[in-house]
Amino acid sequence: MNNTLEIKLPPSRASMMPEHEQLMHDHNREENLPDVVMPACSINKVLKGQKALVTGANSGIGKAVAIALAHAGADVVVNYVSRPDAAEEVVKEASRCGANVFAHRANVAKEDEVQAMFKKMIQEFGTVDIVVNNAGLQKDAKIEDMTLADWQFVLDVNLTGQFLCSREAIREFKRRGIRKEVSCAAGKIICMSSVHEVIPWAGHVNYAASKGGVMLMMKSIAQEVAPHRIRVNSVCPGAICTSINMEVWGMSEAYRELMKLVPYKRIGEPDDIGRAVVWLASDDSDYIHGSSIFVDGGMTLYPGFETGG
Ligand code: BGC
Repeated sequence: MNNTLEIKLPPSRASMMPEHEQLMHDHNREENLPDVVMPACSINKVLKGQKALVTGANSGIGKAVAIALAHAGADVVVNYVSRPDAAEEVVKEASRCGANVFAHRANVAKEDEVQAMFKKMIQEFGTVDIVVNNAGLQKDAKIEDMTLADWQFVLDVNLTGQFLCSREAIREFKRRGIRKEVSCAAGKIICMSSVHEVIPWAGHVNYAASKGGVMLMMKSIAQEVAPHRIRVNSVCPGAICTSINMEVWGMSEAYRELMKLVPYKRIGEPDDIGRAVVWLASDDSDYIHGSSIFVDGGMTLYPGFETGG
């Protein structure tokens, strides 16, 4: 057994939560698994001059995405619906990269609020190049206990919210066309989906249905707008340590159970998603269109079959 096992973090990753780091450390040592080394590559300015909107950007994955886009040189609108103080923190952090950033409150499930948000963004930044449909939530219950209100609420935010923002984005992309000084596409939409767009999830039927819906919404929009050189894709995170799922990674027993579902044997970090979004928004991925990119440490590889079957 390797007693000197250490989680090696590059300097830019100092934000990893200490309790999370400890859990990874203990787990891998107990299981006699190799050291966890986090990616150390810095983000290049591949999005210089582009204008990005990230919904639900005041916490978790959305926050990491907004900051990663700013690192990549984009100006960013940090959408939020509650906790303006948290949104302002993200604005501060993203501005340190030299980007123009502002926060805007809007409920993505409300048509008039979404339209007002796009209007404001176009006033402030001149246009929109990248939209990351990230805002999403869970309201879990067994099917027999799930209220219609909880079903509706999750579908409204996770699916209708993505539809409304995509529609406004496409209107602007088509109006403006390609700005070839910043990108060879006329615009990029990135939908935040989930491994649960393909993995059924008992006790979470509203959430899984919303993500399954995102998958075919994204692909249908992609098919429709491709000739206009508008790229549409999804990122499908697996278990990423954010407050949405703290109960599955915050305690060692729960972490051990979770690792049975993750062949790569580490929980994901919001920054893992940030990097994938930057790549999907950049011309590096210009021929990727209508794809669901799984960022899940192999969660969709049917890990139960590692030994069974
Ligand atoms: C959910 C998390 C969950 C993960 C893997 C995500 O889409 O938001 O709560 O841990 O899927 O099951």
